[in-house]
Amino acid sequence: MGWKEEYRKKLTTAEEAVKLIKPGDRISISHAAAEPTHLVDALMANKDAYHNVEIVHMVPMGTCAYARPGMENHFRHNAIFVGAPTRETIKNGHGDYTPCHFSQIPNLFYRTLPLNAALIHVSPPDAHGFCSLGLSVDYSKHAAAQAPVVIAQVNRLMPRTLGDSFVHVSAMTAIVEHDAPLLELAPPVLTEVEKAIAHNCASLINDGDCMQLGIGAIPDAVLLSLMDKNDLGIHSELISDGVADLAKAGVITHKRKNFHQGTAIVTFIMGTKKLYDYVDNNPSLNIYPATYVNDPYVAGKNDNLVSINSCLQVDFLGQVCAETINGVQISGVGGQTDFVRAAAISKGGRSIIAFPSTAAGGSISRIVPFLDPGAAVTTSRNDVEYVITEYGVANLRYRTTRDRARMLIELAHPKFRDALKEAFKRRFNTAF
Ligand code: COA
Repeated sequence: MGWKEEYRKKLTTAEEAVKLIKPGDRISISHAAAEPTHLVDALMANKDAYHNVEIVHMVPMGTCAYARPGMENHFRHNAIFVGAPTRETIKNGHGDYTPCHFSQIPNLFYRTLPLNAALIHVSPPDAHGFCSLGLSVDYSKHAAAQAPVVIAQVNRLMPRTLGDSFVHVSAMTAIVEHDAPLLELAPPVLTEVEKAIAHNCASLINDGDCMQLGIGAIPDAVLLSLMDKNDLGIHSELISDGVADLAKAGVITHKRKNFHQGTAIVTFIMGTKKLYDYVDNNPSLNIYPATYVNDPYVAGKNDNLVSINSCLQVDFLGQVCAETINGVQISGVGGQTDFVRAAAISKGGRSIIAFPSTAAGGSISRIVPFLDPGAAVTTSRNDVEYVITEYGVANLRYRTTRDRARMLIELAHPKFRDALKEAFKRRFNTAF
């Protein structure tokens, strides 16, 4: 049977397709902007047929109705990255968070979290019957390969990204055609503090560097401050609109990359339609699973790799918490540690943790003597390198714990420095 006939035979409605999911199943959903929202809606409409269906995914951009109160008898969410729509369910104990480096998440499905079904979102098939996973290959490709049941939403608005992004029609169990706009994340409106942080980051970036940019407002702000650089390259877990803008402006050329020269390497894409149009069928961007893109030894093959990520709290030792507030999980490790370690392996590499010195409207210092009780250490003190706030830049690597604390206090907001100096004296039995 040719792939076209197979495609026709597998065509069904979302309502019928989700009946393949049985009580007690574990399913994965492609995440972020690639969430197959039409299939998720059908899953919700069929909720009464389900009991204890475990839903696994990373970045939640959709409504996540299955994680809301009242759904406990039908669904249980196992988050490998937490976001605003799923925080409460994890906090209340109706869901779980599974800590795992992004580079290792795709292999979870072959180890501790084998799937019964994968819900994916793809572009229409090409002449050979291959559909592109478009905006999210990261764990979606492995999920589709491991799960015995693969339900695909085929959407003509899903960009056809190139690289290791393809799933053949023969690997799908059920195919649902449904065109709908993809989920979008608007670029943040930047504050003066974020602009100052971005300016400090830009001072460490040289022409020809290869960039990784993390999640949150700061990495986006950094992109806007790079307009006067030349021949930057990208090897990054994630890209947002700012990368397309810099590529169109001729700042990002990938020309000086020594590894995958001439092309961006990414594992997922999250932004607006402008970005999705840019990545469609674009040979200057290749998308691969996170097992490849985020593997520190792969990413570290790029000379001059600069990783830029953000955080919530840093203690005097240089321990970086990017995931919890008062011990409550609010995001996840994602690829932060993967890329901090990749930058350490890279010849000429630098890792940057950049963050505003305060939080909660300026009432809390993010630089603290001790992390909150129950805080997750995302980047350890052994891995941390550059730390940046709006007040400056510090390189903590290979510095003593006392030196680190002194350097960090200089980066704190002035209104907290006296209290931090007192804490320094108590902690280290030394004058500041
Ligand atoms: N105490 C109390 N509240 C805090 C806080 C602290 N120490 N730090 C931050 N907050 C509050 C902020 O005030 C803000 O509140 P608001 O929404 O009411 O304004 C909220 O928490 C979010 O903080 P913010 O720093 O604005 O978040 P962000 O969107 O810039 O994202 C991270 C920052 C750290 C959450 C994000 O970068 C992340 O998830 N990192 C981990 C994963 C990662 O780095 N991946 C990299 C590869 S993609």
